[in-house]
Amino acid sequence: MRVLFVCLGNICRSPTAEGVLRHKLSVAGLAERIEVDSAGTGDWHVGKAADVRTRQAAQQRGYDLSALRGRQVKAEDFHAFDLVLAMDSSNLHDLQQLRPDDASAELDLFLRRYHLALDDVPDPYYGGEAGFAQVLDLIEQACDALVLELKGRI
Ligand code: 4NP
Repeated sequence: MRVLFVCLGNICRSPTAEGVLRHKLSVAGLAERIEVDSAGTGDWHVGKAADVRTRQAAQQRGYDLSALRGRQVKAEDFHAFDLVLAMDSSNLHDLQQLRPDDASAELDLFLRRYHLALDDVPDPYYGGEAGFAQVLDLIEQACDALVLELKGRI
């Protein structure tokens, strides 16, 4: 199984989801069986580390995002991954445009898939510290549900 998280910049939300899912899969003993990556619809932060506020908020909860670097999502990702999860509705719209007709990957909105209180992970980039904590709260809850789903699929 291969899972790709996608947001706008690939420096806040989707790297957080990648780090949280990697950690939870490792705890569940599934790290070897499921590949996890993240990407952005935009290209502004290609090759860059995750936002320092994102890395610090993640570190406070035990997730190390220091090795992650930004990349832009590409059409071939819809062949290389099984599940592509958008962080918000705008990302989902952009991904629907990019998705080749013959693509094998399933495309979905991350929080909506697991019936969380919000459909979108709010973009924390222009906000304060609370936004980064909220991103983690939502992503941790959705990743718990995702791990359960993955356990049933592999
Ligand atoms: P992300 O947050 O999509 O969660 O990585 C953003 C990061 C950068 C920008 C926007 C959102 N930006 O405009 O540079």
